[in-house]
Amino acid sequence: MSKPKFQTVTGMHDILPQDQAYYEKIQEVAKKVFAFYDFEKIDTPILEDANLFIKSVGENTDIVEKEMFTLKTKGKDSLVLRPEGTASIMRAYIEHGFLSLPQPVRLWYYGPFFRYEKPQAGRYRQFNQFGVEIIGETDPIVDVQTILVMYSVLNDLGLKGLMVKVNSIGDDNCRPLYRKALVKYLREKKTGLCSDCQKRMKVNPLRVLDCKNEKCQETLASAPQSVDYLCDDCKKHLKDVLEYLDELKVPYCLDSRLVRGLDYYSRTVFEIESTKAGENTGGVLAGGGRYDSLSKMLGGGETPACGAAAGVERIIAEMKENKARVSFSSVPEIFFAQIGPLAKKKSLPILEDLRKAGIKVGEAFGKDALKAQLGKASRLGSKVVLILGQREALNNMILVRNMQTAKQVEVKQEDIIKEVKNILKEK
Ligand code: HAM
Repeated sequence: MSKPKFQTVTGMHDILPQDQAYYEKIQEVAKKVFAFYDFEKIDTPILEDANLFIKSVGENTDIVEKEMFTLKTKGKDSLVLRPEGTASIMRAYIEHGFLSLPQPVRLWYYGPFFRYEKPQAGRYRQFNQFGVEIIGETDPIVDVQTILVMYSVLNDLGLKGLMVKVNSIGDDNCRPLYRKALVKYLREKKTGLCSDCQKRMKVNPLRVLDCKNEKCQETLASAPQSVDYLCDDCKKHLKDVLEYLDELKVPYCLDSRLVRGLDYYSRTVFEIESTKAGENTGGVLAGGGRYDSLSKMLGGGETPACGAAAGVERIIAEMKENKARVSFSSVPEIFFAQIGPLAKKKSLPILEDLRKAGIKVGEAFGKDALKAQLGKASRLGSKVVLILGQREALNNMILVRNMQTAKQVEVKQEDIIKEVKNILKEK
């Protein structure tokens, strides 16, 4: 078969009807958990000023260096399709003066994000994320609440074998010391690094730590660890985070290599992955951390914050792998059949009355033969069929056939809803 002339753009995908139930289920579960923890929803635009991400995510990160979809407007503004949500939300927090609200402000979001990455399993150029941000609080309990909220959504979706990886990368006080020690180590071991990491070492040395290249992994085996360089405040913060985590039934481990790929993080960073990850999921399901300096990076005040986001497509791949059950659209218990042009004309208002009464009805208006219509009713498994023929249409009556007992009664059209509800109640 020849390829269709037009196809989805590389890395982008249609969400087909058979997958919609997964997207709905994820939003439904996330919404429930977020509502319990008192998060309010926020939507920000898809397009943002390019500088918003350059200043926050960081100039030397993969996202800004390689992955932004950038466009120039006619007015010569440089805009990007948002690659992530945190910078936009902090922008909104500052722009709308949320500092004057009771703190912390708890926000959640859901929507499409865009990164010009090499498409592969679990990695798209347009993907959906849901996320939370708790802005205006330094207490380490908030870091753990962020982890718990994201973990709970994944757990409530039926995902198995989840593992939270946690680390602390320190703050502006102690990270420079760690960075210096790491660079010294990397310089000494330069030949044991891949060519990408030899470049990264100069501009963003922490990123070398999570390179997947085997040669780099071996070289990094005895690299200095950020936890050994934490100042007293950061040490205490991490200790508290781990103690709160110990109180929960959330499986976690300390991962000294975890640094995350965005510049705005400080102190706690974490990722949630499935230890049973299938081939399609591409690993990490959710990631986040504390970002106490982001507000200042964007011209706001000293505002500590913490948050996380999860990748919807990766979660769906995991749900499929776990054979998690999602309910697809409910089967109509009632089917409506019509015979003849007059009956067909009267059909739409009758269906509309049934819809308003909350009764789901199937139909096959494109087919005129009763046999074909009843064929569809039995394929759908409908228990009751309403039949409107020429005679019934003229007399304002309708036939109600109970498909299980094959009994058929004629009722007044004005009594249809009452009759249908009675039959449905009987079953
Ligand atoms: P991130 O780790 O870049 O963090 O993305 C979060 C999640 O989005 C990932 O764990 C992954 O599941 C999903 N994801 C990322 N890129 C792709 C892709 N190309 N295709 C499919 N899924 C993808 C952030 O975005 C931070 N803003 C999270 C955060 C919120 N930190 C603090 N607050």
